[in-house]
Formats: sequence, C-alpha cells, structure tokens
Amino acid sequence: MKVFVTREISEKAIHLLKKEKFRVSVYKKDKPIPKSELIKNGRDADAIIALLTEKFDKELIDKIPKCRIIANVAVGYNNIDIEYATKKKIVVTNTPDVLTESTSDLALALILACSRRLMEGERMVRTGKFKGWKPKLLLGIELKNKVVGIIGAGRIGTETAVRAKAFKTKIVYFSRNRNYELEKKTGGVKVPLETLLKKSDIISIHLPLNKGTYHLIDRKRLSLLKRSAVLVNTSRGEVIDEKELVKILKQKKIFSAGFDVYENEPTINPGLLKLDNVILLPHIGSATEEARSAMAILAAKNVSNVLKDKKALTPVNKLR
Ligand code: GLV
Repeated sequence: MKVFVTREISEKAIHLLKKEKFRVSVYKKDKPIPKSELIKNGRDADAIIALLTEKFDKELIDKIPKCRIIANVAVGYNNIDIEYATKKKIVVTNTPDVLTESTSDLALALILACSRRLMEGERMVRTGKFKGWKPKLLLGIELKNKVVGIIGAGRIGTETAVRAKAFKTKIVYFSRNRNYELEKKTGGVKVPLETLLKKSDIISIHLPLNKGTYHLIDRKRLSLLKRSAVLVNTSRGEVIDEKELVKILKQKKIFSAGFDVYENEPTINPGLLKLDNVILLPHIGSATEEARSAMAILAAKNVSNVLKDKKALTPVNKLR
C-alpha cells in the first residue's frame, strides 16, 4: 500500500512506515507541494501524510479516490474539508497532545518578549543605538498580579495558563465549557469573552479555526482592550480581524502584540512590518525537535493503524 508524504518529515516516522512494509513516497522539495503535484502523487495513494499548508477541498478530495486516511501533521485541521472527507469515508487525524508543551512555551515566550520589549532591545543593541544604562530605557510590564486572559481553554490554553501562573498572575479564561483542570491548577475563573477582553492585561489566544471562531476578535471586541494590553496569538491568524488589529496597534491603543500566525500566511500585512510594538514569528509554535518528531510519528502510527483496519489513535472525524 502506498503512503504519500507531502513534505520531508522526521525520518523516524518514515522508518516506522517502511518497517510496516508500506511503500512510502515523499515530496522532496522544501516548499509547499503544488496542488497538481499533490493530485499526481495522491491519485494512487492509500494514505496521505499532509501539512497545514495543503488545502484539502472538495476538488482535491475527489482526486484522491483510493485514500483512506489524511494524517495531518498539526493539531489544527482547518485546511481540510472534514465534512466532505467524512462523506468520502476518509479518516482525518491530527496531532494533539504532543505539541502542547512546545506551543504553550512559545506563547509564554511571546508574552514575555512583548511585555519586556525584548525585540526592540535587541534591535537597539544590533544597530549600535545602545549608549548605556538609562532609568527609563525600554520600560515594560511586570507580570506579577496582572490578569492573564486565556481565550480557548483546550490543552494548549491550559498549559499556557499554568505557565503564566508561575509568574504570579491571575488567570481568567473564555471557553465553551468549564475547564476544571485549569481552574484547579491555576485558580482561573471562566468569564464571558467581553469581560475577559476588558479586564485582561495579557491575552493569549488558543482557539481552533472554524466558522464559529473566524474573526471572533473583531473591531468591536478589539475596542474593549486596555491601552496597556498585550495580545498574543499562537493559534490561527483568521481568529482575529488582522486589519483592525493593525489599526489599533498603529494608534497605540494597546501596548503590544505578538504574532506567530497571520490571516494570509505567509503574506504579512505590510502595516505590521513597520510597527515597533509587535513581535512577528514565522509560525513556529510546535517547532521543537521533540514536538515535530512526535507529531510525525503520531501521524505515521495513525496511517499504519487505519491501513491495517485498526482504529486511528487521534481521529477528528467519525465515519459512522
Ligand atoms: C500548527 O499550527 C498546528 O496546528 O499544529
């Protein structure tokens, strides 16, 4: 049986599949695979290991008739038309858990870097503008006693709250359901979204992208933020109306923002590039040796299970 992998991933995952005697074919170029290549290679594949850079819409799904599983090497799966894949009896899997620690580490890194203006400081030193210690040089925000608002209290949101709590903050969170684990570990309190936006000094977004979360943080909601607020997004760019966020950052209506994701990735809103009060990262939330290797292995195990008529380990759809 053929497994097509749309980009080079951890060798350990490829090895695992080869050991199971699957015929593994990998797209070797270090760029997102063009749709035509994906169709050409996916046409006769029994399984596809894919990345979030590939869009599996109806048109593409219709062209991979043999495929029984799309194993996305990501926790998010907004790049796949799940409803249509389900209709076509294709199992879709993601890679939860294994990237939780890495992604919440990065959320905290962005929170700290924004609060303490690390990148501004770095640029100052590199450009020879650091002329010695000054009492008011790059004053930032101390985390102790600040309110940290977690939007989306799943696994990554919970771990980000736990990390933030270690800095003596107070946690509030917005989520569909109560998260007893988060509450127990951090003393966090569930609040309505508007309350969170008004009350929080630091806001970290951890929502999946779907119809209900697209532009959830819109102009009206952005207008509720404190002038001193720090906003960090490590989930999906489309959750925020980016144009509106750029406007309020330009007008210095909030203190700072940290982005790991963008609305039109990899295109960056040119307005953002000119601003000093933002930190811009290239979607590296799960980019650690540990997480990326575990994600690839989990995807491979999902493929192996499904092709051997066993249950997928981390399915996101139910076929029956
Ligand atoms: C990365 O953005 C992921 O969804 O895993």
